[in-house]
Amino acid sequence: MPNEFKTVCVVGLGYIGLPTAATLASAGFAVKGTDISEHIVEELNEGRAHFSEPDLDMLVRGAVSSERLKAYTEPQPADAFIITVPTPIRDDKSPDMSFVEAAARSVAPVLEAGNLIILESTSPLGATDGVAAIVREARPDLVEGETLKVAIAYCPERILPGQMVRELVQNDRIVGGLTPADAERARDLYESFVRGEIHMTDAKTAELVKLIENAYRDVNIAFANEVANVGEAHGLNPWEAIELANRHPRVNILNPGPGVGGHCIAVDPWFLISDNNDLTGLMAEARRVNDGRPKSVIEKIRAAAKKAGTKKIACLGLAFKPNVDDLRESPAIDIAVGLAQEGFEIYAVEPHVNALPERLWRHDNIRLAGFDEALAKSDIVALLVGHKAFLKRKGDVEGRTVIDAVGLWRESPHVA
Ligand SMILES: NC(=O)c1ccc[n+]([C@@H]2O[C@H](COP(=O)([O-])OP(=O)(O)OC[C@H]3O[C@@H](n4cnc5c(N)ncnc54)[C@H](O)[C@@H]3O)[C@@H](O)[C@H]2O)c1
Repeated sequence: MPNEFKTVCVVGLGYIGLPTAATLASAGFAVKGTDISEHIVEELNEGRAHFSEPDLDMLVRGAVSSERLKAYTEPQPADAFIITVPTPIRDDKSPDMSFVEAAARSVAPVLEAGNLIILESTSPLGATDGVAAIVREARPDLVEGETLKVAIAYCPERILPGQMVRELVQNDRIVGGLTPADAERARDLYESFVRGEIHMTDAKTAELVKLIENAYRDVNIAFANEVANVGEAHGLNPWEAIELANRHPRVNILNPGPGVGGHCIAVDPWFLISDNNDLTGLMAEARRVNDGRPKSVIEKIRAAAKKAGTKKIACLGLAFKPNVDDLRESPAIDIAVGLAQEGFEIYAVEPHVNALPERLWRHDNIRLAGFDEALAKSDIVALLVGHKAFLKRKGDVEGRTVIDAVGLWRESPHVA
């Protein structure tokens, strides 16, 4: 239930901001969602979510029809502001903080003494200080000596696409204040709608927590992928070796795959690496190993195609991970594009989408196909994403040349 905060302005209504805004509204806050995209604002004011996520449509419809959630193209006065805008990396892998800076600048004019600003965007160390510096510069009337009359905190988001609505409420949260009092105010806000535990710290530690969570995942996946590189070079089945190694009571190696995609694990480690080059050799090497996997899958497909004397490949899966429709930064797409550029004919099977993403349109040798059509038209089957839908189709590819890059159809004949 709302406490000292009655109104919350959520800045950036994407994958994170929209479920956050709708959840806050359903917890009783008056929520003003803002986004620079007019399309998103219009859709939301008509009661629709602009992307698909279980239970989100219902939550948004309820929030909008109860008039607790309304969308705008510019920040509106509120008790608390939550910034959930993108933080991509540039071509040179340095963090692009321009969206966060623009969001902070857009919030500054409507701030009042006593407000709270929370940065949720995944950010490099010091980003929350950066938000404070923008507010200080834009609103000298809110500065008294060293004191800023607005509380500022960092609170990273860790929700999993596919389970966002549930995890927004259930997950533990880390709140890092610029001052201990700022952390307490941020805690008060989250406490009113989060059922998980809330852990308070300083802002920079909270920034580090988010980055090391994803760097940890990346390094562990890289280890599995390196095991796969070694196993495959020796003609061994890496999944079998890993399955056997994991019988050790203190070993738990992850599954190798065709690379790491998405907008988090493949991106966030760079926020640490680019500012701490001398200290992050392991993380940088993990990035290199994981980024190299699509190329080794292409090599395997190319070799199999040469042996079979064919150019027709069924690529099963385009998403960046199993059972989602998210194709951003997907290694499966890198593989399909790499093969297409070499002149292969690709029949791409992606049960979670109805159309190919725009970046594939210029490759007229990549076509979206159903499973049966792709199988009928291709000589080689490359399994690139471990979608549940593919699990039961194992029997249908028997007798064909199969490159299983995710181990979904693996057989470990020596594992009892
Ligand atoms: N998607 C995830 O699963 C996930 C998980 C954890 C953390 N994060 C982090 O959360 C942040 C947001 O990610 P996302 O996936 O929601 O991004 P997104 O691209 O889906 O949404 C961001 C939204 O912000 C809007 N925007 C950009 N600049 C703006 C501005 N100045 N003012 C108002 N709106 C603006 C964009 O139009 C867009 O709708 C990123 O830092 C991301 O790394 C994402």
